[in-house]
Amino acid sequence: MMQAAPVKTLRLVGVFVLKAIYPGSFDPVTLGHWDLIQRAEKLVDRLVVAVLHNPGKNPAFSVAERVDFLRELVAPFPNVEVATFHGLLVDFARQENAQCIVRGVRAFSDFEYEFQMALMNRKLHPDLETLFLMPKEEFSVLSSRMVREVGTMGGDITGMVPELFRERIAHRLMNPAELG
Ligand code: PNS
Repeated sequence: MMQAAPVKTLRLVGVFVLKAIYPGSFDPVTLGHWDLIQRAEKLVDRLVVAVLHNPGKNPAFSVAERVDFLRELVAPFPNVEVATFHGLLVDFARQENAQCIVRGVRAFSDFEYEFQMALMNRKLHPDLETLFLMPKEEFSVLSSRMVREVGTMGGDITGMVPELFRERIAHRLMNPAELG
């Protein structure tokens, strides 16, 4: 019986493209997300940053706004694209022919949730691997939820979100009714 060539060999001869999905809510994108995108982009051939379309949640930014922020950020990287998805992540990964998921773990407290999610995704799609990457230590307590909380109360979000969008993000968080 013919054996399939190992992934390493396929990569060496240039016929195998390692594609990863970096899923999340990104409501809004933080410097921690940005740090992770830059780390993941170096490891894989193609990276899809995938924004979950979750109508059940009460977001601060529309999916279109979150996608716009991310697209502006990743514009210099030709191997990174931004997409949205509904429903199960594994279905989106299949549709994209991706072999892995990238997730960030900031601290031990993230571990349980990430572990459960990775194992559930593996149960649903046994060939899909989850890669965990650690963002820079300075972002280990940073989350979109924290940014929303600080920004909504008028706190300074400098150093938490990309400077390019800081004012827009701060403005929206102070004026939530402006969400279309
Ligand atoms: O940035 P977040 O909010 O922690 O991202 C969570 C996300 C979007 C990765 C997760 O909620 C997700 O994958 N949702 C899609 C639904 C799904 O596939 N659920 C099964 C795995 S638990």
